[in-house]
Amino acid sequence: MNFFNFVELSHFLIENYIKEESVVVDCTSGNGFDSLYLCNTLQGKGFLFSFDIQEEAIKRTKKLLDEKCSYSNFKLIQDSHSNINHYILEKIDFAIYNLGYLPKSPSKIKTNPEETIISLEKVLKLLNKKGIVVIVAYTGQDKSKERNQIFKYLEKINSKKFSIMNLKLINVNNYPPEVFIIQKNA
Ligand SMILES: C[S@@+](CC[C@H](N)C(=O)[O-])C[C@H]1O[C@@H](n2cnc3c(N)ncnc32)[C@H](O)[C@@H]1O
Repeated sequence: MNFFNFVELSHFLIENYIKEESVVVDCTSGNGFDSLYLCNTLQGKGFLFSFDIQEEAIKRTKKLLDEKCSYSNFKLIQDSHSNINHYILEKIDFAIYNLGYLPKSPSKIKTNPEETIISLEKVLKLLNKKGIVVIVAYTGQDKSKERNQIFKYLEKINSKKFSIMNLKLINVNNYPPEVFIIQKNA
């Protein structure tokens, strides 16, 4: 595993923290790679919810899961992750955000800090004890605007309730991505 590749790091966390009966959420399904990883890790138990506002992303995720995942314990939702409370009432164990644009798409639709933070507030309320949220933020697309707003929101959260880590490559100059990892303590 390449620890410095944040997609591989996310998948390492998925493998090590989610159990087969976990309820997990892909907050930005995009091309579906994280959803596929989550769905295969669940092994037909637990449940996966995947959100994306773009029809194209939901179509790509459905195609990938239909082709490469033998399980059907998932629901794809074409709506903003900021509306997560309209769809998920139970507690969740893991959520992942891979922010930014849909790769390999002419569309300029991307995540925005306001909706991401509304969604995060709701996800943290739904999170089970020891549950984890992973956020991969691409600082180059908007000169770190979304990353900075997320940082400001997260740094004020009570450390008794949540442990929060920010990982970044410090010897790379061209806007490398950053990761936030949140775990609910109590
Ligand atoms: C970098 S891509 C995600 C990549 C994906 N995780 C994968 O494995 O392929 C970001 C996605 O976030 C979606 N998005 C933007 N705003 C959103 C919102 N408010 N709610 C849910 N998805 C959103 C975009 O449509 C885009 O598909």
